[in-house]
Amino acid sequence: MVHNTRWGILATGGIAKAFVKDLLKNPQTRNASDITHTVTAVASSSSSSRAQEFITDLSLPGMPKAYGSYEELVNDPNVDVIYIATPHSHHYQNARLALEAGKHVLCEKAFTVNAAQAKILVDIARKKNLFLMEAVWTRFFPLSVQVRDIIRKGGEIGEVVRVLADLSIANADGFDVSSRMVNLDLAGGALLDLGIYSLTWVFQTLYHTLPPSQRKPPSTIQSSMTKYPATGADEDTTILLTFPTTTPADDRRASHGIATTAFAVHSHPRGTPSIRIQGTKGEIQIFGPAFRPVKYRVVPVDEKKEIREWECEFPDGGHGMYWEADEVARCLRDGKLESERMPWEESIVIMEVMDEVRRQNGLVYPEKIESVEYPVAL
Ligand SMILES: NC(=O)c1ccc[n+]([C@@H]2O[C@H](COP(=O)([O-])OP(=O)(O)OC[C@H]3O[C@@H](n4cnc5c(N)ncnc54)[C@H](OP(=O)(O)O)[C@@H]3O)[C@@H](O)[C@H]2O)c1
Repeated sequence: MVHNTRWGILATGGIAKAFVKDLLKNPQTRNASDITHTVTAVASSSSSSRAQEFITDLSLPGMPKAYGSYEELVNDPNVDVIYIATPHSHHYQNARLALEAGKHVLCEKAFTVNAAQAKILVDIARKKNLFLMEAVWTRFFPLSVQVRDIIRKGGEIGEVVRVLADLSIANADGFDVSSRMVNLDLAGGALLDLGIYSLTWVFQTLYHTLPPSQRKPPSTIQSSMTKYPATGADEDTTILLTFPTTTPADDRRASHGIATTAFAVHSHPRGTPSIRIQGTKGEIQIFGPAFRPVKYRVVPVDEKKEIREWECEFPDGGHGMYWEADEVARCLRDGKLESERMPWEESIVIMEVMDEVRRQNGLVYPEKIESVEYPVAL
């Protein structure tokens, strides 16, 4: 039987548009014949006319409801799951609003501003029997799935000992101080916005590839940060993580994850790799931005062995966000509260790493967005 998921879209900004466009793509084109998606409601915090404009611009079928408040959206009985697409600063309040109303939640990255907020959301989801996931779409790309499989099998590149992952965007001219990229009131900065993807690659290769019982958080976290002069948000952050084992797990040797992010430089100019996963027998290079990888190349150390490449296709001209939406739909169909590919525990460990990096470098956000109080008007 085909399972349909009814989505409610919370906020009408850039990523909400990209996500909904992907929801409209035909699942059959990506061999997903077991699920479908519909958007049944959209909410804008500014006005219902803005929500209606979003619906009209995207030609959403089935006459979705247009709401002028997030509260109305989360109380709509025709919505199964809320997609939260507000700035980081608002995720905790908005996700909690949806969970308290009994709705499942897919929440944009970074999950929350700090680990304490993430833990509370997870506790509420568990208690209320609701699905909750951080929307790290990259993890659901067929490319990411294949790369994790190569690492798990161990044969092609051997034991993974080091991963270098960068997401930098070559915006040397900088941002307007009000931009959510650098505005501290919106939890702006390279770390929470872009560095989360560098950390995603480090974690999905050095941590997630191990069986859950063998996953151990980094034993050391070292970092350095440069602040954006106009606002004090971070513009250039480098993180060095030591994991207690390699992967596949070998306790005799530790592994290193180096996650970097910066506004001013480019992570992959002229087709250079943005990620390198280095094993004892070779390396996997990932091409394209860390959030939307387009190709991988397996380069064996042994020169007699061939270099192998695989390119990611985006069926029906999609952006690639439909694979995470399909995961949500299948989890809801199967009554799962969390995805095995983006488990709660891992989102929390990554938030803890970001907390520690911010602590080491004195990056503090305003009290009300770091707060675990609810409700707080932002
Ligand atoms: N997965 C990805 O590849 C990806 C890419 C870009 C961004 N993101 C994430 O998605 C989230 C939103 O990013 P975006 O680029 O879509 O941002 P955006 O274009 O600025 O949109 C954010 C939306 O949030 C709502 N909002 C509520 N309170 C707000 C406030 N005080 N200030 C600004 N907006 C407010 C607004 O919608 P209403 O007026 O309709 O309520 C606004 O349009 C962020 O967490 C970001 O990290 C993810």
